Amino acid sequence: MRHLTLAAVMALLSAPAFAAGHASGDAAAGEEQFNRQCVACHVIVNDAGETLAGRNARTGPNLYNVTARGIGMYPDFAYGDSLVELGATGEMWTEENFVGYVQDPTGWLREKLDNRRARGKMAYQVRAEEDAINLYAYLASFSAE
Ligand code: HEC
Repeated sequence: MRHLTLAAVMALLSAPAFAAGHASGDAAAGEEQFNRQCVACHVIVNDAGETLAGRNARTGPNLYNVTARGIGMYPDFAYGDSLVELGATGEMWTEENFVGYVQDPTGWLREKLDNRRARGKMAYQVRAEEDAINLYAYLASFSAE
């Protein structure tokens, strides 16, 4: 009985929909949205220092490899306490987490941390869930192997 339960949990955890980096959206549509909605604050710069998207915005962290690196993990960025607290739990930017966050950073952090005082420092909300899903696919395409 115990073994069966554990096996069921493992199967759930390893289902692709729950894996960080698994994307169901359209990366090309996400690129268009990124250039429209995100470049005011974010860039995508790879480890070699090449700018792959955006210009030189530094208000938000570099989003290169964000779907694989963990929440609030870009070195030298002064994240808000709530994002850092969540990242310390080992939580990742899965598609589900990302889509919830970008549509309402503070509301999502409050729910995830079960803390009404939690706050996100990202002063932006994506309006359409479809755009959020496509943005995730675009960002996942920059994941280093
Ligand atoms: C007005 C500036 C601004 C805009 C526009 C903006 N962001 Fe952000 N973003 C931030 C800031 C600031 C943070 C850091 C939040 C914190 O520390 O709580 C952040 C954090 C993030 C994170 C978490 C990164 C990590 O390292 O964990 C993701 C993912 C993200 N933004 C995606 C997006 C996407 C996608 C868009 C476009 C739809 C976008 N942002 C638009 C300012 C912005």
